[in-house]
Amino acid sequence: MAAIAATPHVRADYPTRPEEMERAVTRLREDFLEQGIDVEVLHGGELDLAELATLSDDDLRRFTLARSGRYLLLEFPYSGWPAGLEETAYGLALRGFVPVLAHPERNRAVQSSPRRLADAVRVGALVQLTAASLDGRLGRSAQNAAHRLLELGFAHVLASDAHTPDIREAGLAAAAEAVGDDRLAHYLTTGAPTAIVAGEAVPEPPPKRRRRRFLLI
Ligand SMILES: [Fe+2]
Repeated sequence: MAAIAATPHVRADYPTRPEEMERAVTRLREDFLEQGIDVEVLHGGELDLAELATLSDDDLRRFTLARSGRYLLLEFPYSGWPAGLEETAYGLALRGFVPVLAHPERNRAVQSSPRRLADAVRVGALVQLTAASLDGRLGRSAQNAAHRLLELGFAHVLASDAHTPDIREAGLAAAAEAVGDDRLAHYLTTGAPTAIVAGEAVPEPPPKRRRRRFLLI
């Protein structure tokens, strides 16, 4: 069955508590059942880096993707390099969590130097790309950075980041096509997400085959 992770913002302007997210997931599951929508709804949250210090280990566990107890989606800022990113990733690893960095390809510093993510990936962080970045809906800079991260082997998950239909449609199929490599697209949309949901180790991404060429930075 297809599955979608509900990842409400957890940050100063959307201070979602774990119990609110859990209640909302329950309501959504009931609604999907009533409406005959054959999609599983999974728990999650998109946590602001600054919020990590305010959340207990138990809160963090409740916000892990699919209640894996392991994978935490962290909001990568749109501008500026997040201070202490590698230390944060390492600190979370010591607490038993694996950070999944959401949409770093939309960050200006990453766009000008995608290799800056190397240290975070080296200490175990995973990288999630927004589908709309890959297929160009978010502009050329995000698209180039997303493709460069694929080339570098720094991307692990492709996500809709859909919010609501009037903000952004899911569009995963078009983005998977835009990956330009079927094996890597399968890894990003099925292989790695399945491991995350199961709380298992995520394998290394397969090297990107250069079947199609894109303008790279
Ligand atoms: Fe986000």
